[in-house]
Amino acid sequence: MRAKLIAGNWKMNGSLAANQDLLLAIGKALGTHHCKVAVCVPSLYLAQVQNLCAASPIVWGAQDLSCHESGAYTGEISATMLRDFGVRYVLVGHSERRHYHGETNELVANKTHRALSAGITPIVCVGETLAQREAGLTADVVKRQLAAVIHANGHCISEIVVAYEPVWAIGTGKTASPAQAQEVHAMLRQQLSAASTQSDRISILYGGSMNAANAASLLWQPDIDGGLVGGASLKATDFLSIVAAASQ
Ligand code: PGA
Repeated sequence: MRAKLIAGNWKMNGSLAANQDLLLAIGKALGTHHCKVAVCVPSLYLAQVQNLCAASPIVWGAQDLSCHESGAYTGEISATMLRDFGVRYVLVGHSERRHYHGETNELVANKTHRALSAGITPIVCVGETLAQREAGLTADVVKRQLAAVIHANGHCISEIVVAYEPVWAIGTGKTASPAQAQEVHAMLRQQLSAASTQSDRISILYGGSMNAANAASLLWQPDIDGGLVGGASLKATDFLSIVAAASQ
């Protein structure tokens, strides 16, 4: 049985003061019986978050990494640099990276490979736009996104986490219904099991306007192993409610 994982995606939010308040509030209220909890923070704050979370059950991650190992890539951050700050997870191929930074399926696959080589668990994000869903292309799109990652990573695929995030549900307040999400998760699970004998280890998270009110019904679905939480991860009470729903 896979333990549930709730990962916050802070995106480009936070400050030294706000991060401290948020993490102290979450850490204090976590208690002992809870699912796995992670926060993916802007890289500039990793040192601070590492300090604040070192003695807590919260693990920390980054939101992106370079596909290169090192060298003349101004502005990029490598997997080994992230490793220096105790990073456990890194988001790869978030739809905002795909959309605003032109990240292709192949680049996402290479970044996944780079993270795995450094011993960091990539949370590989896949998801369709509203136009793609309405055109009946959801299965095609997410399968192609995942296939590129499987192709480039072979048997190491069992070490990734997948996040299904329908683009139309991100930051919009429109959540996929539990049945819609489950349908895609089951399909992704099938694709993963065809690619790896150890696919049982792979958690598939749902992301897209997950909040305190809808988390439980999503997390009840047999193939939803946790959540990637944007907006609701910035408020301690909301984030803790989702963690509580995943810890039943
Ligand atoms: P949201 O973001 O929860 O604010 O919709 C999720 C994400 O982008 O990871």
